[in-house]
Amino acid sequence: MSETVRPYIPAMGRHWMLFLYDPFVKLAGLHRVHGELLDRAGVRPGHTVLEIGCGPGDLLLRLARREPRAELTGIDPDPAALRKARRKAGRHGLPVRFAPAYADDLPFPDDSFDRVLSSYMLHHLDADQQVAAVREVRRVLRPGGELHVVDADGTPHQGSRRHRHSQLAGHTPERILRVMASAGLTEVRENGRGQGRTALGHYVFLRAGV
Ligand SMILES: C[S@@+](CC[C@H](N)C(=O)[O-])C[C@H]1O[C@@H](n2cnc3c(N)ncnc32)[C@H](O)[C@@H]1O
Repeated sequence: MSETVRPYIPAMGRHWMLFLYDPFVKLAGLHRVHGELLDRAGVRPGHTVLEIGCGPGDLLLRLARREPRAELTGIDPDPAALRKARRKAGRHGLPVRFAPAYADDLPFPDDSFDRVLSSYMLHHLDADQQVAAVREVRRVLRPGGELHVVDADGTPHQGSRRHRHSQLAGHTPERILRVMASAGLTEVRENGRGQGRTALGHYVFLRAGV
């Protein structure tokens, strides 16, 4: 990772609100969404898995329980979120590695991972950062690897709360799919709509391969 600390949007939008994120995950229905993402990701024993923008680690800790023989790594630029994630992993004896990094500057060699997961992270990046991040994902995925994304659907007619979440403006699945295809990922497609809504409105699953 480059040593430069750059601005980023933390989990709850403001650093001081991080303590609310774990309760938010439960109350807003993100638990269910994480389960639906893992159902699609098809992680198997021996797989190496990276989550970009892991926050306080809920998705990976859940995956560690489901598939204890996978090797799991989460990255996030937020040191406070990583501390929380490590604390929870330690408390439950779950061997997940959490490291500081930005999604567009991943500190891993080419072809390192079988799966990359991104959950409610891409809408924290601007359009250029999204392109750079997806290129990095393409680089670290090994042949046969897959990217699995879930994020809020910013399409206005989907009833997303665009007015409350300006970050979601223009954040449509079609645009993200185009970013994925232009980064050289293959078999890029929508992989299902979420069942019901979360506090962030409708959500959508996307996948791509290498
Ligand atoms: C809404 S949280 C999602 C956390 C977790 N993935 C989940 O589903 O619970 C978004 C996370 O993206 C992280 N983030 C923001 N900018 C980032 C970047 N450039 N690279 C990687 N992560 C970033 C934030 O720090 C935050 O932890």
